[in-house]
Amino acid sequence: MKLLLLLALKLTLFFVHAERETSVPRKNFDAKKIEGEWYSIGLASDKREKIEENGSMRVFVEYIHVFKNSSLAFKLHTIVDGKCTEIHLVCDETQNDREYYVEYDGHNTFHVLDTDYDDYIIFHLKNVKDEETFQMMELYGRKSHLTSNIKKMFVDLCKKHGIVEENIFDLTEANRCLQARNG
Ligand SMILES: *[C@@H]1O[C@H](CO)[C@@H](O)[C@H](O)[C@H]1NC(C)=O
Ligand SMILES: *[C@@H]1O[C@H](CO)[C@@H](O)[C@H](O)[C@H]1NC(C)=O
Repeated sequence: MKLLLLLALKLTLFFVHAERETSVPRKNFDAKKIEGEWYSIGLASDKREKIEENGSMRVFVEYIHVFKNSSLAFKLHTIVDGKCTEIHLVCDETQNDREYYVEYDGHNTFHVLDTDYDDYIIFHLKNVKDEETFQMMELYGRKSHLTSNIKKMFVDLCKKHGIVEENIFDLTEANRCLQARNG
């Protein structure tokens, strides 16, 4: 009896923890609902140069399309020699729930950490290249700005993943190639 109670307590603790980790219950994730227009709001990495000016990961999202086969197409912009340049990436689903894979400056595996579909989405990405690895986190908004509450939640999540405050960027005052978007 005591053992059962302990087990029940452990399970409860596990679920409380799991729930705090993400706001969308795992099984209920509906990839189709992340389709559409997005704006890059927050960007963070434990390898700062990747997301600084001229860094390969300093990319700004415009649109996510969800294919029938569950792959995602990202339309992004990045600044090359001072000019906004389009990037198109197709990211295939992995065997893990809400996780995707793409080749771009190395091998990237990323997953949807949190989303409410209507306002924001947070991705966590791991890059592996030449036996080196770094992580990156991104906050996208459906509109070009997000509330300070959501931005704070993002900063807290980044810190929880070991990214220091100096490496967490608020992009809303930076050049995000908004003028290069399709309307
Ligand atoms: C899914 O479809 C897209 C569009 O046709 C294609 O680019 C991508 O490679 C496909 N993914 C897989 C895993 O077949
Ligand atoms: C980024 O690249 C541009 C153009 O190549 C250059 O002028 C600028 O100094 C670079 N910035 C940094 C921080 O390296």
